[in-house]
Amino acid sequence: MFVKCTPCCLCPPTEARTGNAPPDASTAGSLETASYLGTYTPPAMMVSRSPAALRVGCLQLSVSLLLVCTVSLGAARTPAPPACGKPQQLNRIVGGQDSTDAEWPWVVSIQKNGTHHCAGSLLTSRWVVTAAHCFKGSLNKPSQFSVLLGAWQLGNPGPRAQKVGIAWAHAHPVYSWKEGAPADIALVRLEHPVQFSERVLPICLPDASVHLPADTACWIAGWGSIHEGVPLPQPQTLQKLKVPIIDSEVCSRLYWRGAGQGAITEDMLCAGYLEGERDACLGDSGGPLMCQVDGSWLLAGVISWGEGCAERNRPGVYTSLTAHRPWVQRVVHGVQLRGASGARGRGPWGLGS
Ligand code: ARG
Repeated sequence: MFVKCTPCCLCPPTEARTGNAPPDASTAGSLETASYLGTYTPPAMMVSRSPAALRVGCLQLSVSLLLVCTVSLGAARTPAPPACGKPQQLNRIVGGQDSTDAEWPWVVSIQKNGTHHCAGSLLTSRWVVTAAHCFKGSLNKPSQFSVLLGAWQLGNPGPRAQKVGIAWAHAHPVYSWKEGAPADIALVRLEHPVQFSERVLPICLPDASVHLPADTACWIAGWGSIHEGVPLPQPQTLQKLKVPIIDSEVCSRLYWRGAGQGAITEDMLCAGYLEGERDACLGDSGGPLMCQVDGSWLLAGVISWGEGCAERNRPGVYTSLTAHRPWVQRVVHGVQLRGASGARGRGPWGLGS
């Protein structure tokens, strides 16, 4: 499947090639960068072994077949993407609410004019999902933005972080550019595909089987403020926080604006603590609300809004990916879905049907 060039003097026989070809990423156990690069060098002794009569033809075919082989081997460098939602834990631990290196390899920093502006989540090698409000007033200025992947500490991104330009940002067509408005979601097309590694991996989207009942323990991550008006101090280590899902009716009541004016729409999800103290804040927008289902991390929501930060009875509000999955799938090809299907009848996610 990787190398489909005609066997000839320049291309080793099929057996040799399959034997040396990089493993298919879908079956490979190792997620070393090398398996993504998958470089293959054909053995050099094939030419001298060729009978004299064949050698002339072989030489005539050499240039074109070298081209064919090169093209095929080029295709081998873009194998199936790694499985979504499965971090390759590196053995490094930091205290408090700091995340560990590569703990959330799909979390990216969206930078505006070189400084952190919003977070986002990697869906494929070419697409990031974030909040639409991150592009307010600058949707048609993609050159102002860049995406930093694999960073962990923004103040110290390290040599394996990747910075990629934005080709364009695509806000949900229904979004009205008002704070707290529904459909606060945008898809960001990267200028070129990123290289997957243990620090850069895609997250899964929830499939139709996924339901998130109240109190489900999910997580958020981000480089946003640690209190209102207090930015994350250097070296700006990615923060993580466990946030239980809040019942939608409870949340609707908390954010009720009176006279039938509910602020919480069908495409919003609330998570966090009614007592306050723990929440997302400024700069966390666009980042993921993540829930682990059957061993894979799913993107349940995008950090969208809240009244203040960590205030009592004012939990964080998230744009629901269950609600917007069909739109995301129409725009982004190759996004990976996961759900309870692999765990039918077992665990809290199995619906038994
Ligand atoms: N809107 C803010 C941002 O642009 C963060 C929203 C989350 N707020 C909250 N209290 N949960 O970064």
